[in-house]
Amino acid sequence: MTLPPISKRLLSALPYVREGTFLADIGTDHAYLPLYLCLTGRVRGAVAADVREGPLAVAGANIRAYGLEDKITTCLSDGLQRIAPYAPEDITVFGMGGELIASILAAVPWTKDPSLRFVLQPMTKPETLRQFLDLEGFSVLGETLTKEDGRIYQTLVVTYDGQTRTHSPLALLVGEANLKRRDSLLFELLARHQKTLAEIQAAKAAAGVDAAYECALLAEIKEILL
Ligand SMILES: C[S@@+](CC[C@H](N)C(=O)[O-])C[C@H]1O[C@@H](n2cnc3c(N)ncnc32)[C@H](O)[C@@H]1O
Repeated sequence: MTLPPISKRLLSALPYVREGTFLADIGTDHAYLPLYLCLTGRVRGAVAADVREGPLAVAGANIRAYGLEDKITTCLSDGLQRIAPYAPEDITVFGMGGELIASILAAVPWTKDPSLRFVLQPMTKPETLRQFLDLEGFSVLGETLTKEDGRIYQTLVVTYDGQTRTHSPLALLVGEANLKRRDSLLFELLARHQKTLAEIQAAKAAAGVDAAYECALLAEIKEILL
């Protein structure tokens, strides 16, 4: 069986998508993720959704090329707006900014359902996404770091349980579970943040701007990288 050319970043969804579920992949682009999950039998079917016609046409062509028209439907949808009729159980949102992912989850009320599972991979602003999850009652069930082409990606699996939470600035930035696991990628990620934050802190100090956020993060990072 030929599988689509799926990246390590997309493969990070694999441990988190539940066996036999119906999947919604939001911002599917080429549809490689739902194709991979259907071809390997992990999910029973999927809706591959995108807000733009162009990527959706590519997704449709790929789905036909793999002969999976009976298992994967395409849907033109802004986030989850047109997804409810498909009744997905697991929902993947990969390769978008953390702010956009948060706004997609916030835009429809039915995301606040404990039976649903969301697997999320923010390209930027993971701290904004985690802050949203904390405030809106979503619990992080697990998270991992993946390195590809020199970049470190974060993947989170979350569900709604209605409990609000608070996390430290560093836990928002890199994830509490990642901090607890302390694998080599965490140390690499922290070292990168330490360098960038020190530069921002110095620039802010030179401009007379408050750098309390950067200072708090640097203090937390220093404790771990000692
Ligand atoms: C960088 S691609 C990521 C593709 C794939 N998910 C991945 O991670 O490789 C982002 C895709 O999200 C789509 N997109 C952006 N905003 C969206 C929204 N509000 N709703 C649905 N799709 C969106 C874009 O059209 C694009 O195809």
